[in-house]
Amino acid sequence: MDNRIRNKGLAGKVCSAEEAANLIKDGMTVGTSGFTPSGYPKAVPLALADRVNRGEKVQITLLTGASVGDELDGALAKAGVIKKRLPYQTEKHIRDCINRGECQYIDMHLSHTPQYVRYGFLGKIDYAIVEAVAITEDGHIIPSTSVGNSPVFVEMAERVIVEINTSQPLDLEGIHDIYTPKNPPNREPIPISRPDDRIGTPYIPCGPEKIAAIVITDIRDNVRPLGPIDDVSRKISGHLIAFFEDEVKVGRLPRNLLPLQSGVGSVANAVLGGLVESRFENLYCYTEVIQDSMFDLIDAGKVLMASSTSITPSEEGLVRLYDNIEHYRKKIILRPQEISNNPEVARRLGVISMNTAMEVDIYGNVNSTHVMGTRMMNGIGGSGDFTRNALLSVFTTASTAKGGDISCIVPMVSHHDHTEHDVMVVVTEQGLADLRGASPVERARKIIQNCAHPQYRDMLTDYLERALHAQGKHTPHILNEALSWHQRFIETGTMKIK
Ligand code: COA
Repeated sequence: MDNRIRNKGLAGKVCSAEEAANLIKDGMTVGTSGFTPSGYPKAVPLALADRVNRGEKVQITLLTGASVGDELDGALAKAGVIKKRLPYQTEKHIRDCINRGECQYIDMHLSHTPQYVRYGFLGKIDYAIVEAVAITEDGHIIPSTSVGNSPVFVEMAERVIVEINTSQPLDLEGIHDIYTPKNPPNREPIPISRPDDRIGTPYIPCGPEKIAAIVITDIRDNVRPLGPIDDVSRKISGHLIAFFEDEVKVGRLPRNLLPLQSGVGSVANAVLGGLVESRFENLYCYTEVIQDSMFDLIDAGKVLMASSTSITPSEEGLVRLYDNIEHYRKKIILRPQEISNNPEVARRLGVISMNTAMEVDIYGNVNSTHVMGTRMMNGIGGSGDFTRNALLSVFTTASTAKGGDISCIVPMVSHHDHTEHDVMVVVTEQGLADLRGASPVERARKIIQNCAHPQYRDMLTDYLERALHAQGKHTPHILNEALSWHQRFIETGTMKIK
């Protein structure tokens, strides 16, 4: 354990998960490591859930980097521990608590959380619980498979609990680049002008005196399976790559494109996977998650460097990472999420953002988060950080969901995450709509024609034509009908309108 806990004075802080969990009291605010379930603490949350399951009352506000696994969100949600949660989640039990109104959830841009914490908008952080591969001689923390918000939680928390996870290879050391911006008015330009620029330290500054407890565990990251690359995703990827080729031909993109950001989920994984077979090479990525297809791109020699805040592969992908860690460490930089998702850097690099929508309306507004307008799915994550600041912002989605019962192209989105002003390209398996330079009605015609499923195209065209005879001709709508599109589905289980 000497190479994991290198500060000799910290040996006395090693304790059981139960002892460390006893430090967490009712009403506290706890900030943990973890981003799209990787690199989150496991042993201490499980011990806390156990305490509560044995009858003790503890409720906390839980802040993380992004989604975390079952041992944290799942175990604590099932035990009723989480009173308030932010900024992102994907776990079934916490999602159900949120949708039953038992847990208050703040769905926010992931690059904003550190500033909220630093300015005290979220109150005092009592404990930071951070998964690490090691603690340095000076008591600084070397994180594991994600960085997320750990630097700001360690900076702002009263005390820190470190989980040394021996299932996470020590060879991850050197992959991280930790940089903390100053507060305005002293904030300076972030000195990243290329995705491979390293600007910080390979550890999270902490110091031994702040560490309250160290827990040793070997529970592995409970990563999520990725859906197989199906025909729909393959077609979406094909349309997008053909579009990129055209953009290169007309000189709007360089031959190796611009730094790519790719979102979470199966569709996003498939879209990036499509680039493996493409003729594009010497690619850079400036993104927040690294999924399996990034390993394919790296192995194919197509990616020169991928900047991210987490590595979040499938179970097979995790084995691949561990078996080839030396190789991948040279091609990946893990940064705090306020840097990986930083609007200033995304705008400077001219990122191509590619995120997944749940539904897109005929004018190009996007809902990424709310099923039928009211039920939270996951959250906006980093999609807004990138979309608003990208040189080219793309949204992908299958044209239908739930076996064709729902059209993902709708007259008016039931919840707005990304507005028509930020969305440049929409792609479904049906085709691609380039919305740049198009007026609302021009956009509507392109989206219906190119992206809607044929089963819904006539209904959407009929809606648009009738809306054009209604009052406002700039963004034509028949409001009661637009809103009843979703309501009808909820009531009848079908999307039939008119
Ligand atoms: N109406 C209702 N449900 C819909 C829907 C719609 N229009 N579109 C999709 N869904 C459902 C699917 O049926 C599926 O449900 P299930 O889990 O019950 O099967 C679920 O949403 C996920 O859809 P799926 O097709 O599996 O897509 P995905 O895994 O690619 O995830 C998002 C898509 C939008 C949920 C996901 O990308 C996300 O959370 N995005 C927001 C955050 C983000 O973009 N982060 C990236 C920043 S780097």
